Amino acid sequence: MFVEQIDRFEQNQKFDQYLTDKLFYLMKKYGPHQCFRIYHGRGKELFIEDALWDFTIDHLAPYKLIFNIHCHSWDDSYWSFYDRIKASLVSQLSQCYAQHFQAVEKAFLFSVQVRTHLNCFFLEQNIPSTIVVVENQLRFQLSLNENQNIGLFFDMRSGREWVQNNSKNKSVLNLFSYTCSFSLYALLGNARNVVNMDMSQTSIHLGRKNHSLNADLLGDYANRVQFFSHDILKSMGKIKKLGPYDLIIVDPPSFQNSFSMKKDLPWLLHRLKELINVHGLLFLAINNPHVHIRDCLLEYGELLGEEFTLLKLLSAPGEFVENHIGHGLKILIYQKVL
Ligand SMILES: C[S@@+](CC[C@H](N)C(=O)[O-])C[C@H]1O[C@@H](n2cnc3c(N)ncnc32)[C@H](O)[C@@H]1O
Repeated sequence: MFVEQIDRFEQNQKFDQYLTDKLFYLMKKYGPHQCFRIYHGRGKELFIEDALWDFTIDHLAPYKLIFNIHCHSWDDSYWSFYDRIKASLVSQLSQCYAQHFQAVEKAFLFSVQVRTHLNCFFLEQNIPSTIVVVENQLRFQLSLNENQNIGLFFDMRSGREWVQNNSKNKSVLNLFSYTCSFSLYALLGNARNVVNMDMSQTSIHLGRKNHSLNADLLGDYANRVQFFSHDILKSMGKIKKLGPYDLIIVDPPSFQNSFSMKKDLPWLLHRLKELINVHGLLFLAINNPHVHIRDCLLEYGELLGEEFTLLKLLSAPGEFVENHIGHGLKILIYQKVL
């Protein structure tokens, strides 16, 4: 199935050339030492229905490219596709780096991480299990061979930058904090204090690590940040005690048994409404690609009522091309007015 999709796909597009052009454009946009996503299959950016939707390629600082393939099962016939794309990208990228960044001595590090329903494995053996990447000035540790996600959601970059620009002197609650990337940006933006909460101990551990990796930039951050590995649905008492807040970030999972968007999110938002100071902000991120922004605006607008007004809408950075407009990452920012 996969191979058929690739064949069909390549009749229409020069995939290799498309990737190289896009990488070059992004290196100009962000600089060669930054991490970013080059190809995001979920957005169906190449307009081919069902082809390559479970395929991503990330640029993890110079000379490292990580392919991620989510598929139902790995078939040996995928090897030839991988080998060809790899050979093509290595040759074109070497030229690209040499021409524009005068540094191409190092070898490219390629990894293909395959995630099936049953397991996650690498097709190459020379991959470190953790690496540190840079986004803006901040450093993040990524885990390349562990869980479903590597530690940083590249499509949230615009959201993180907004948080940095809107945290000055604020008390911030970061719910579903994962590896606490919002917390780093809030502290960099001079937040008064940040409370991070996520039920995953591993993510919170990595969150702490990310803070220590950036100690030189964050100054006296230790007294301004707290970390809790708690189930949010069972921790309203604690959340209330540590409040109220000037900015609450809610970035829940779309498809996890531990949280139901349909049942738990309305419940949570009702409780959080009371914990936001007047003029305070609610940053609500909806990731589910099956949900349209129009429906989010209706549902959450009604739920928050007249106490809140919509201040801003944000989406993923431009390189996350969305074939189905309105279905990509949706960030709704509300302000409490009453
Ligand atoms: C979409 S990720 C959050 C991404 C994060 N805000 C970021 O920008 O990096 C969802 C997170 O929700 C956490 N989670 C899911 N259900 C939870 C619950 N009931 N209580 C606390 N955390 C939960 C997961 O452990 C996961 O880290």
